[in-house]
Amino acid sequence: MKRTHYCGQLTQAEVGQRVVLEGWVNRRRDLGGLVFLDLRDREGIVQAVVDPASPAFAEAERVRNEYVVRLSGTVRPRPADQVNPKLKTGAIEVAVESLVVLAEARTPPFAVDAGWRGEADPEVNEDLRLKYRYLDLRRKGMMDRLRLRHRVEKAIWDFLDQEGFFYVETPELTKSTPEGARDFLVPSRLEPGKFFALPQSPQLFKQMLMVAGVDRYFQLAKCFRDEDLRKDRQPEFTQLDIEMSFVEPDDIYALNERLLAHVFREALGVEIETPFPRLAYREAMERYGSDKPDVRFGLEIRPAESLFEKSEFRAFRGVLEAGGVVRSVVAPAKLSRREIEALEEEARRHGAKGLAWARVEKQGLAGGIARFLPEDAAAQLGAGPGQTLLFVADRWQVALESLGAVRLRLAEMLEIPRRGWAFLWVVDFPLLEWDDEAEGWTYMHHPFTMPNPEDLDLLDSDPGRVRALAYDLVLNGVEIGGGSIRIHRMDLQKRMFEVLGIGEDEAEAKFGFFLEALTYGAPPHGGIAWGLDRLLALMTESPSIREVIPFPKNKAGRDPLTGAPSPVSEAQLRELGIRIAP
Ligand code: AMO
Ligand code: AMP
Repeated sequence: MKRTHYCGQLTQAEVGQRVVLEGWVNRRRDLGGLVFLDLRDREGIVQAVVDPASPAFAEAERVRNEYVVRLSGTVRPRPADQVNPKLKTGAIEVAVESLVVLAEARTPPFAVDAGWRGEADPEVNEDLRLKYRYLDLRRKGMMDRLRLRHRVEKAIWDFLDQEGFFYVETPELTKSTPEGARDFLVPSRLEPGKFFALPQSPQLFKQMLMVAGVDRYFQLAKCFRDEDLRKDRQPEFTQLDIEMSFVEPDDIYALNERLLAHVFREALGVEIETPFPRLAYREAMERYGSDKPDVRFGLEIRPAESLFEKSEFRAFRGVLEAGGVVRSVVAPAKLSRREIEALEEEARRHGAKGLAWARVEKQGLAGGIARFLPEDAAAQLGAGPGQTLLFVADRWQVALESLGAVRLRLAEMLEIPRRGWAFLWVVDFPLLEWDDEAEGWTYMHHPFTMPNPEDLDLLDSDPGRVRALAYDLVLNGVEIGGGSIRIHRMDLQKRMFEVLGIGEDEAEAKFGFFLEALTYGAPPHGGIAWGLDRLLALMTESPSIREVIPFPKNKAGRDPLTGAPSPVSEAQLRELGIRIAP
């Protein structure tokens, strides 16, 4: 009595065959003496019918939903009026000859059967789903996403293996890596008072693999970052981490484009367009107010300074006099007061002082700041009657980022269709950004990023204008990857530390081991890391990355299934030399 088929794989080709199936009872129905069992495994369901004359009938009467059973029977066509076109197995059924209950089951805290019958799975509280994740994973949507994740990882493996990449595992008990988040620390028992850090990324190890001569490396690497959670962030997540020697950015773009095309073809059967467009960081900000723009719709931001040069509108004149900018988005609709307020709220959340507006009507501008605007304001912005002009005046960054957020909110509000796969490279990031708090320059990516050789002269005179050889990979408005060419020479690395205000002692203490590696002949190298969970969430149109992670943490960073994090015993703490502060 060995299983012969998966339930969901039976077809009309098996009609007349004797089969043995094992799985869960998706649903049991008692219909006028006949017992119908929808038997389920990960491949789908098939209808099994137990006739009162069958020796299996007594056992079938006892079976309940979610029991695990083994049955044997003969595949036969269903009567024409019982064919279910929604199901792959909807034209057949199995006439049961024997049935064994392998395990009984309690009633699950939520239904797991609907998706398998071709219906929508009911909404269930997320913490309940996570507490019983093994039951949640029984549901069709979750099982499909697990399968897709496997297919994507397999496609990545196959492609990169073909391309000559080595898969190398790097340590998880290690030292802090500078990716800009807080570390998760692990206390050392053998050396009380000392700690390992869980890696925020394998960055320094993959660079040392290049020093070693591995030449082409990849890893599906677990990364750990103790930062505030969002729907596209988890404290523990997976990167596809890649590093290559003797390359320029173009080599890395081309490899990633071919890899993504392969992944989409293998896992989704979708052909994506390559090469991806490239957008300089400045242009992305100027047009979309974001360094990860969703370019599937317009609503682009436009300069509007010229409308206010002679305006009486004090707030805006003041901003312009202080060196700020005025930018505008035209909403292709007559927005209500409440809609404008919601957009203003969004602008304020991103640092704007407000959101000024005016409606374009047939007779001219009306409402909001209409009286401060020149008559041809709408024409200058390319707007017409029935539309609404929206303005923010502020520092360059704040004005653009807040309008970028307004633009996204507006697309939602007006239900502007956003379809397809809009990949893009954002390039020419600034190497450095000014840190108001520290009153100094800090790195945008990490301190090992190569400055654009064309801008090296500016490193001392105008550091803010130095571009980095760094790039982000963006899909549909989500940053799904980032990387750079690295500094491979110590003289330049030392100069970078000077600009960053990182002293020799500090550099030595933090990553002396790595700097030393650079002195033994490091090849020019660079790479990238994809946020694999984010990519999968997009591929499956999931509202959060938790939907594509088998056992994620919840919104509060806890694991409702195991109860982690949890207290540990006094004895364990003593061993580690740790006392909990009251
Ligand atoms: P970066 O920090 O940009 O680069 O990370 C790469 C990608 O990882 C994803 N990501 C996350 N996904 C889920 N939860 C998180 N908390 C999270 N944080 C980041 C993002 C991001 O684009 N070592 C460099 C890469 C390199 O330079 O090669 C790095 O880690 O999609
Ligand atoms: P006030 O004259 O300050 O009452 O502002 C009139 C309108 O302009 C209000 O809708 C404010 O939200 C908006 N506003 C004021 N300052 C700014 C600014 N810097 N950027 C955008 N809108 C602003």
